[in-house]
Amino acid sequence: MICGQCRAIERQFDRRVAARQLKKYRRKGPARSTQMLIDALRAEGIQGATLLDIGGGVGAIQHELLRAGAATATSVEASAAYIEAAREGADGQGHDDRVAYYHGDFVELAPQIESADIVTLDRVICCYGDLESLVGLSSARARKLYGVVYPRETWWVKLGVALINLCCRLRWQAFRAFVHPAEAVEAIVRSHGLERRFYRQTFIWQVVVYGSAGAQTR
Ligand SMILES: C[S@@+](CC[C@H](N)C(=O)[O-])C[C@H]1O[C@@H](n2cnc3c(N)ncnc32)[C@H](O)[C@@H]1O
Repeated sequence: MICGQCRAIERQFDRRVAARQLKKYRRKGPARSTQMLIDALRAEGIQGATLLDIGGGVGAIQHELLRAGAATATSVEASAAYIEAAREGADGQGHDDRVAYYHGDFVELAPQIESADIVTLDRVICCYGDLESLVGLSSARARKLYGVVYPRETWWVKLGVALINLCCRLRWQAFRAFVHPAEAVEAIVRSHGLERRFYRQTFIWQVVVYGSAGAQTR
């Protein structure tokens, strides 16, 4: 993996963090905003669908959608520790053979990643500076549905992200978080023929599902 932010991501989401997140997922299930995204995708229809989950962490979306009837999943994840945790989770649920894992920066790996019926980026856009490439290349691979969870542009979220980045700076950590403008995200997604089907907010996150224009998923 070449990009500096991806090296920083590898350090940020290490084995300790992955183990903690896996334990939390096993105990409590998906995070609230993740569950909102899963429910919205299920409402659109996921039976027999292929999933491309980018930056899926411990694999909550993969596990939940495969259990709910999705056919196969491809996971592209920049953290090796998270891939290990997602594999462990998939193995425990008996569907590890239905998930293909790629370790690295999705933007770099994109030429070798096939399109899928559903593409998801759950709390990933905020970890990557090059919005145009990440959202452009991923939304271009969504045949039916494109689901994202990313930070709202409120003052409290911007303040929180500024504090996270300040802490990283003070600890000499290269990791940076980003609050990208929703308008820019929306414009890139729409340019790939997708339109909004679902929108909801939590205190921090916005959860959005886009569908391919004119196509019904059910
Ligand atoms: C904040 S974590 C979220 C993990 C999980 N989706 C969740 O919501 O619990 C961000 C994840 O995105 C991954 N990530 C960020 N940029 C990425 C990229 N360009 N390619 C692949 N994975 C990426 C990180 O490795 C990390 O697993």
